[in-house]
Amino acid sequence: MERLQVNAKSRSYEIVIDFGLLMHIAAYIKEIYAGQRIFIITDTNVEKLYAEKIVESLLAAGYEVEVHVVAAGEQSKSLLTLEQLYYAMYTAKLTRSDLIMALGGGVIGDLAGYAAATYLRGMLFVQIPTTLLAQIDSSIGGKVAVNLSVGKNLVGNFYQPIAVLSDTACLQSLPERVFNDGMGELIKYGCIWDAKMLDQIEDFAQDRTNMKILQLLIKRCCEIKAEIVVQDELDKGIRMLLNFGHTLGHAIEKTFNYETYTHGEAIAIGMCMITQISEAYGLTEVGAASRIEKLCRCFNLPSSLQKKILLTVISNIQGDKKTLGNNVNFVLLEQLGKAILYPVALDDLEIFLLGGAEKLGKNKH
Ligand code: GLY
Repeated sequence: MERLQVNAKSRSYEIVIDFGLLMHIAAYIKEIYAGQRIFIITDTNVEKLYAEKIVESLLAAGYEVEVHVVAAGEQSKSLLTLEQLYYAMYTAKLTRSDLIMALGGGVIGDLAGYAAATYLRGMLFVQIPTTLLAQIDSSIGGKVAVNLSVGKNLVGNFYQPIAVLSDTACLQSLPERVFNDGMGELIKYGCIWDAKMLDQIEDFAQDRTNMKILQLLIKRCCEIKAEIVVQDELDKGIRMLLNFGHTLGHAIEKTFNYETYTHGEAIAIGMCMITQISEAYGLTEVGAASRIEKLCRCFNLPSSLQKKILLTVISNIQGDKKTLGNNVNFVLLEQLGKAILYPVALDDLEIFLLGGAEKLGKNKH
């Protein structure tokens, strides 16, 4: 078992990581919550796998429990689902001293977290992430949000949970593509902060049943995220480094209407392409891009886009002027394990990205 502390300014809390943690969930809840009532928010997939056992164990420990289930998938991060959730919370007569439990992946964490942040002007909530991506990234640090039809995460808040309880046994039931989606984010941590992690990821790629390495990697991601969030909870500086691969990645997801690539796949392309380009400009140590590409390939993550699609992606980023302002903050690697912010004027974006891609073409010949 691993226990880490996140000492954010707005709230300090613990991340607990353990294989089989859900079997003892009531004991963990007792440590952090003195109340009686727990409102579980989950989705149709996770409900089938874990809800019954969790409810049983909480009831046996004397809690009153209610479960609210939303459809699995990104479409549930909507204002409509949020409104239905608020009404369910109202019907359940929740008060500010009751606990919201977000049981699921990133969508559930974001939706339930935003509901907890806003209903009755803020309720206690605990994150129980069940996907790799949620365990290493989205459940930690308090970013909660829902989408608008014009863009993702446009309505949200920074609202910290009272604990993050991660059961690594849940990862064994993930479909391979969903697991690999999380590996995209996991590779990101090694790239921006700790190059030694990349060796461990290579070891894990050789033996994907090795839960010991996986748990160490998850712990390291959580440590890094906690360190960054403590320094910059509101995402105005160093926290932006967590967006390595995301500027292109988000635009790639949007270009394909969130249907073709998972988040982790899109940021894998983003990490590989931006690093190829920054290497071509001499901003990144040579060899970084090919190492990232190789790692991505181990987990079936894509690494490139055709030029005509890149052009559409660029024009989609430029079309986001309303939310981006005049500059795009790229995260570049000086070397593996060391990232910097690199602002590019929106008007120069095409020259920057295509210029890098062209240089790369020349360098390759
Ligand atoms: N997922 C990036 C962040 O929490 O800042």
